[in-house]
Amino acid sequence: MDELKGEWFETWFDTSYYHILYQNRDFTEAERFINNLLGYLDLPKNVNCLDLACGKGRHSVFINKKGFQVTGVDLSSNSIKEAKPFENETLSFDTHDMREVYKENTFDVVFNLFTSFGYFDDYDDNLKVLNSVNKMLVSEGLVVIDFMNADYTLDHLVEKEVKTLDGIDFNITKSYDGKHIFKNIDFTDQGKEFHFQEKVQAIKKEEFETLLEKTGFEIQNIYGDFSLAPFNKKESDRLIIIAKKK
Ligand SMILES: C[S@@+](CC[C@H](N)C(=O)[O-])C[C@H]1O[C@@H](n2cnc3c(N)ncnc32)[C@H](O)[C@@H]1O
Repeated sequence: MDELKGEWFETWFDTSYYHILYQNRDFTEAERFINNLLGYLDLPKNVNCLDLACGKGRHSVFINKKGFQVTGVDLSSNSIKEAKPFENETLSFDTHDMREVYKENTFDVVFNLFTSFGYFDDYDDNLKVLNSVNKMLVSEGLVVIDFMNADYTLDHLVEKEVKTLDGIDFNITKSYDGKHIFKNIDFTDQGKEFHFQEKVQAIKKEEFETLLEKTGFEIQNIYGDFSLAPFNKKESDRLIIIAKKK
């Protein structure tokens, strides 16, 4: 069985299989979300944005199209390679680990979108990420975190399913150990068996409030879906937090 060495988030997101499995991500929904967010934020045109854990840059490209300067960074060099062709004078991409500071005191808004948080074994690494975000923001800069609503996700966990994409049957099982949501992904491709595991901390709203308080942020608003409806613990599928650097 093929399993790559390294932390799960260093290897899985960098494989072609990750992009095959998630190829049907809804771009229209992502664009609608960004439109709603930008409408709410009402940013002046010269602001500098960071898309932290940008993947192949789908949000970065759209935010840039709306007239803002954007840098997208991600740990996956393969994703950054795919994003690079979209670069222009006001849009750039780079490989970077979100636990570290990329550029100090530079960005007006840092976006962390589509559950790109809570990947690390050490819970304190969450503080490391948010402390880095704080350092990268200018005074009174904003962070936007779009995470799963852990309560809703746990209530609706599909324990077993098979997804067939590009001729590959991805056997997916999900479980919860009281702290993390595990997604095991098993499949065979060209006679080889593969196993990957996603492991995301089920961080709830109250924990985010504590993490953000500890790292020098003041929460401005919390929404529960991409149309920015109010957050509801039981019914919202997303947890979207907008916080300001104190
Ligand atoms: C669920 S994907 C979301 C990607 C992108 N935001 C989107 O919506 O398409 C999570 C991303 O986090 C990136 N990532 C994981 N660990 C990271 C780290 N330590 N530093 C920076 N990026 C990381 C992965 O490579 C992956 O692209």
